[in-house]
Amino acid sequence: MPPRVVERQEIMDRFLSLEVARVTERAAVAAALLRGRGNEKAADQAAVDAMRREMNQIPIQGTIVIGEGERDEAPMLYIGETIGTGVGPKVDIAVDPLEGTTLCAKNMPGSIATMTLAEGGTLLNAPDVYMEKIAIGPGYPKYVVELDASPAENIRRLAKAKGVATEQITALILDRPRHADLIKAVRATGAAIQFITDGDVAGVIHTAEPETTGIDIYIGTGGAPEGVLAASALSCTGGQMYGRLILDTDEKRERARVMGITDPKMIYGIEDLVRGDCVFAATGVTTGSLLKGVRFKPGMIETDTVVMRSASGTVRWIRAEHRQFEKFEMTTPK
Ligand code: FBP
Repeated sequence: MPPRVVERQEIMDRFLSLEVARVTERAAVAAALLRGRGNEKAADQAAVDAMRREMNQIPIQGTIVIGEGERDEAPMLYIGETIGTGVGPKVDIAVDPLEGTTLCAKNMPGSIATMTLAEGGTLLNAPDVYMEKIAIGPGYPKYVVELDASPAENIRRLAKAKGVATEQITALILDRPRHADLIKAVRATGAAIQFITDGDVAGVIHTAEPETTGIDIYIGTGGAPEGVLAASALSCTGGQMYGRLILDTDEKRERARVMGITDPKMIYGIEDLVRGDCVFAATGVTTGSLLKGVRFKPGMIETDTVVMRSASGTVRWIRAEHRQFEKFEMTTPK
């Protein structure tokens, strides 16, 4: 068989897969140095700085679409900031340099550094508001669960499609008072609930592989930026996710309008949140069920990263050993 001709764009795309891993590794190490210090802000800032520094080395014309906030409130990685060397493909970038700031500050499981790099103009410009979300893994008929169906109905439909009793379904839910009715309704079906205290990007990703994670469905309200990041991961693994922005004040509706959102009640599917090819990466900061956290060892730092590419559906788990500490702006490993 003649060798497969790899298009220039694909070479770039494949090359960028490793670059995004470098970026999330750097951010994760920076945040990990501040694990358990009770200082969310410092840990987040360290991750932001490291991520920005590394991203500026990548040959891309990048625009931050999901970032640390709007320009007036975030000096770095703000929405609209251009990033990269300024040569190379035009790309949209979504970042959450430290997802689960409280988890990191308290040294609890599940904080990650994460980002998505997508074809230019393809990521939803979501304001930093809440989003109602529902997500399941691959292999189910489309719309087997729906945002506007009741939680009980969704659990019943999912159980039927999986060929199991509702008691054999496990839902992942953010532990928040706002979810009290949702929790009651899910429990009434007999389904089990696994709670997370933070970190619903990883939460949604858990649905992609129920056999490994034990999670069949993610339901609840979390951040909209996290929703776009999670959708980009599911666009690589398969699965379904639906989300609706909660624009419950004039101010939020206006912010959304300025960002190009014309229908404030729209239900977004994955293909609306991420309209083109993307590369998603996440590195563990504190050890969680998705990724191990950063390990500082004599003479090396170890990181665990997952990189996903939607064009091929490839998911790579990268355990890296870093020996050049100067790259992390630290001389003594912790
Ligand atoms: P931060 O890393 O910004 O603290 O976000 C953590 C998180 O748990 C997200 O995963 C989730 O989408 C959001 O907060 C939920 O918001 P809230 O804490 O206001 O319920």
